[in-house]
Amino acid sequence: MRQTLKVQISEKNREYNIEISDCSFEKLKQQIDEATKNQKRLFVISKKVYELYYCYFNFSEDEILILKDGEREKNFKNYLKIMKRASEVGLTRGDVMIALGGGVVGDITGFAASTYMRGIDFIQIPTTLLAAVDSSVGGKTAIDLDEAKNIMGTFYQPKAVFININFLKSLDKRQFLSGMGEVLKYAFIEENCGYKHSLFLFEFLTLGCEKIMQKEPLTLVRMIEYCLNLKISVVNQDEKEGNLRKILNFGHTLAHALETITKYKKYTHGEAVVYGMYFMLKWAYEKQYISYSYYRLSTELLGKYGFKPLSRKYPVDKLIEIMKKDKKATADKITFIVPCDKKKVKEIKLLPQEVEYMFG
Ligand code: GLY
Repeated sequence: MRQTLKVQISEKNREYNIEISDCSFEKLKQQIDEATKNQKRLFVISKKVYELYYCYFNFSEDEILILKDGEREKNFKNYLKIMKRASEVGLTRGDVMIALGGGVVGDITGFAASTYMRGIDFIQIPTTLLAAVDSSVGGKTAIDLDEAKNIMGTFYQPKAVFININFLKSLDKRQFLSGMGEVLKYAFIEENCGYKHSLFLFEFLTLGCEKIMQKEPLTLVRMIEYCLNLKISVVNQDEKEGNLRKILNFGHTLAHALETITKYKKYTHGEAVVYGMYFMLKWAYEKQYISYSYYRLSTELLGKYGFKPLSRKYPVDKLIEIMKKDKKATADKITFIVPCDKKKVKEIKLLPQEVEYMFG
């Protein structure tokens, strides 16, 4: 099964394809060769992916760079490593960098591609669910500093994205569920996205939980397709997060603070996003933005996938300090995306003292 989705960045009159398929790795290799014909390539590959899948691709040694896994690897040192390697192997303006791995490899390679010789072609081949449904699409690239996640980066659209769900087979349950955190996010924002059809993602995820958790191939292709149709619709309208794109950050204000306060060691990104979504759903219900029945259906949906609200407490003043440094924060206010109706969210900006109050 193969689905092709088109991203059209209206401002720039640019478009590229996203392929979602369950085809063999042999076929995928042919597609990559076809897409990079006559180009010199640099594959940036996550170590785990290299160990598991190298035998299927047989890239030549001089076109690969392997990076260790984990958010802490999305740093300046590794960014320089990619740039130096690109220069050593003689990549020119007409050549291409290819990210083969999860969100970390995708984000850092995208950042390198966008700055190497002021920008060269870039292809994303996400190998985790999280990267497939979120970070590989939409053109956000980044590296982290100790103080803040994704603080250095660019908006830089890839030339193509190849999503092959066979990579998802080797994800362990925790990694898979981390991706589900981002998938579930789309269920709560569908009505904002302006997609031409109703996808009923909330219902699809509620009824399809078993098949999804069993990684049933057609269900996964459809699920990824639904999420990306929503994301593409948002990105096509607002590439640079001037306004609408902010809804994709539902759950992320608290998530980034939790990841930063625990130095990216305790929670996966998806787990942190789910804690952020539970927190905002509860607050939205308390503020009467949403009804009790929607609050209950929403928390039941998260619970179906085995998630629970965060029970551990962190010092609120420290969380707020981190939230103030978030890219979405303004000089004196912290931005949250809050549910305001069924499958709908809105942006609110709160003073730090109001945020303190939110934590009760
Ligand atoms: N991950 C949120 C975005 O792409 O805007």
